[in-house]
Amino acid sequence: SHKSKKGARGLRFTPVVPNTTDSVTIPDGYAQNVVIRWGEPILRGAPAFDADKQTAKAQAGQFGYNNDFLSLLPLHRERGRQVLVANHEYTDEILMFKGYDAANPTREQVEIAWAAHGLSVVVVEEERKSGKLSAVSRHQLNRRLTATSEFRLTGPAAGSEYVRTKADPRGTKVLGTLNNCAGGTTPWGTTLHGEENFNQYFANAEKVTEPTAAARLKRYGVIGAASERKWERFDDRFDLAKEPNEANRFGWVVELDPYDPESTPRKRTALGRFKHEAAQPRLTHDGRPVVYMGDDEKFDYFYKFVSSKRVAKGTSRAAHEHNLTLLDEGTLYVAKLTGDSPAAEIDGTGKLPADGEFDGSGVWIPLATAGPKGHAVSHVDGMSAEEVYVFTRQAGDKVGATKMDRPEDIEPSPYTGKVYVALTNNSDRGKAGKAGADEANPRNLNKHGQILELTERRNRPESTTFAWSLFLVAGDPEDPATYFAGFPKDKVSPISCPDNVAFDPHGNLWISTDGNQLGSHDGLFGVATKGDRRGELKQFLTMPKGAETCGPLVQDRRVIVSVQHPGEVDGASVEKPASAWPDGPGKIVRPSVVSVWRKDGCDIGV
Ligand code: FEO
Ligand code: CA
Ligand code: CA
Ligand code: CA
Repeated sequence: SHKSKKGARGLRFTPVVPNTTDSVTIPDGYAQNVVIRWGEPILRGAPAFDADKQTAKAQAGQFGYNNDFLSLLPLHRERGRQVLVANHEYTDEILMFKGYDAANPTREQVEIAWAAHGLSVVVVEEERKSGKLSAVSRHQLNRRLTATSEFRLTGPAAGSEYVRTKADPRGTKVLGTLNNCAGGTTPWGTTLHGEENFNQYFANAEKVTEPTAAARLKRYGVIGAASERKWERFDDRFDLAKEPNEANRFGWVVELDPYDPESTPRKRTALGRFKHEAAQPRLTHDGRPVVYMGDDEKFDYFYKFVSSKRVAKGTSRAAHEHNLTLLDEGTLYVAKLTGDSPAAEIDGTGKLPADGEFDGSGVWIPLATAGPKGHAVSHVDGMSAEEVYVFTRQAGDKVGATKMDRPEDIEPSPYTGKVYVALTNNSDRGKAGKAGADEANPRNLNKHGQILELTERRNRPESTTFAWSLFLVAGDPEDPATYFAGFPKDKVSPISCPDNVAFDPHGNLWISTDGNQLGSHDGLFGVATKGDRRGELKQFLTMPKGAETCGPLVQDRRVIVSVQHPGEVDGASVEKPASAWPDGPGKIVRPSVVSVWRKDGCDIGV
């Protein structure tokens, strides 16, 4: 059955067998290329990559490190070209620099790391008659945004006392974006980028002793003395003892206009501050964006933002300017879920309750509403609106939101409106002093994660109530504590730790994984969400050693993935690499974007 090429339309390929090969392994009949690697020059004047002669100046014009989320936008004026936008989540200095001394990084190494973070915009060109993509270097739209580029804070928390610093007393101008994990693409031609584990960049939280401020930092995991990368030695803003509010200027959703290389990207405070994994919009019937968002932490929450403004149609300057305000006004909600089976039937093993499903109902609890000119109203007792927006996790705590198993990517199906929430794992579920299993998070010490399917009341994105069920309970299908939407489990691929999700043109859900606990490498999977093959999950590719799969995009003729942190294995370094991907033995390991297509020129999986 694993050999079957049958399947739902879009998923008719021979599944890749789980493996530990140091390559991107793809189905028979498919081909691949590396679209762009870390360090390839994309801006005018940037030099070719030279692992032994890295400089911050060079890196600022080259593709960044650890590409994660990917978006491809049309470029109508130029045939066969699209605009690729990539997140560069974090740097792995030990795999970047020969002889890296983690206790004493040099200023140049730190500045290279700053330049390797952030975002890239790079035009890509397709080869006729294949799915091969190549970067167009020096295109006028190409752009790098780094840890030192200018960003503007907008919306209800912009200018608040919590985001003012010595360098920016007005609290509106932030340097840099950090730890951009997943993201989203809007119907008005912009991209969204979640600032996730920003806590790791800030030092000396332990010197902040005022109890309220200290509790806020701790709730976001900003703790301890020196930071891992020691950036505080080279810029005071990373030292909380000197600049206590700087950390509050990260943890937002960034909106970028990739078509305007002069534009200043915005941090949209109306969408709340947490470890934003992703942000994906859909529109209400009257044209207002609703953005779904996860906070990737054990026992944290998922959210949505409902704009009060409608998308303006057309390509006029006025319409565009209007659309760049859509995410500044509206209501932020957090999810609370209730199971419909008796609590006694949820025993923490993943055994299905008597009604045969992990399912139930939910409410979206409003946290705050932002109006024009940054005015906002809090819906949380004891917290001001500015506090709700800057310390959103604590607002979720106060209203009793449901503690989830690490909400990663979240994606509404453009075909059915159902919303899919990847809950990647939670090794602490059910431990002493921690929340135990509930119907939405039904396994204690959850190693493999699950995917929740949410249906808004009357399928309206702005509804304040919803129904939900677990679509997948991941793991080895031979493990009784797994579930594949009721599809026969002898006909599916094993999967562990779902992270990013995307839809193909046929309405199938594609899932990339991070942290496979089944002994094989991470990969990419497709699964039908409707019809009689609903739940039939098939593995499409696997990653090189140490890599996580992310940023999947599935177009008619190609599948594009980020190969993030290849070779990231304990004890590995430039001198002792764990992987030889992508350029073979003796070459430095480089995170890269890969495109996969069918050799016969037909569409993917048909
Ligand atoms: Fe950066 Fe939640 O993965
Ligand atoms: Ca992720
Ligand atoms: Ca049930
Ligand atoms: Ca992850």
